[in-house]
Amino acid sequence: LLASFGDGALARLNVVVSAGPTFEDIDPVRFIGNRSSGKMGFAVAAAAAQAGARVTLVAGPVSLAAPAGIARRIDVRSAAQMQAAVLDACAQADIYIAAAAVGDYRPAEVAERKLKKQAGADMVLKLAENPDILASLSAQPTHPFLVGFAAETHEVANYARGKLQRKGLDMIAANRVGEGMGFETADNALTLYWADGEVELPRTDKAALARQLIAHVAERYKTARA
Ligand code: CTP
Ligand code: CA
Repeated sequence: LLASFGDGALARLNVVVSAGPTFEDIDPVRFIGNRSSGKMGFAVAAAAAQAGARVTLVAGPVSLAAPAGIARRIDVRSAAQMQAAVLDACAQADIYIAAAAVGDYRPAEVAERKLKKQAGADMVLKLAENPDILASLSAQPTHPFLVGFAAETHEVANYARGKLQRKGLDMIAANRVGEGMGFETADNALTLYWADGEVELPRTDKAALARQLIAHVAERYKTARA
């Protein structure tokens, strides 16, 4: 326990981690969600705490216990709630790691009463675009070191590098989803990209992968701030 304070790679740093899916309500009984389990983000929060950081974990709806050693957990449901919690926590943060699978769209209107079935007719649901949490942070004049995630089914490197640039990130961790790996599995594999480098983290359990990710984040953070 003592070894986790003061002498780790992230000692004295405030780290915010977002994890899990977001749920966007349609009516009082229905929502749009996604298949993120939160496991990778929770493992990243645990690894950051092990590295000595003061960790704030902003969690979407997941069924996971808070990792040992984190300072604070904030539970949210929608992308808008996640954005508010992340922006608030990031005012004091050195590093933000965005592992959450934020819903890109939400129902344009949330029905106050349960929608009733119209038998024999299609249902059309109008969706509104959600704010991009990472992009809103990088647009601020001062903001933490930003680490994004990119889950891709194809053209992983192209899409990941595109997001690194477009969202103004310092680093992005990309993984291929589908083919039995990614959201609900215990294992994962990541490729980390930054402006002038990249590194492959081969398939292993999410706890080991998170510790490797954190080691690279600490190194890049120190290079960027040196
Ligand atoms: N992200 C975010 N706010 C959003 C959507 C995504 O902060 N509204 C963050 C995610 O937490 C992740 C990164 O952006 O760290 C990339 O998310 P991803 O869904 O892969 O990127 P998008 O730009 O939404 O592109 P697409 O879903 O079309 O691949
Ligand atoms: Ca998206």
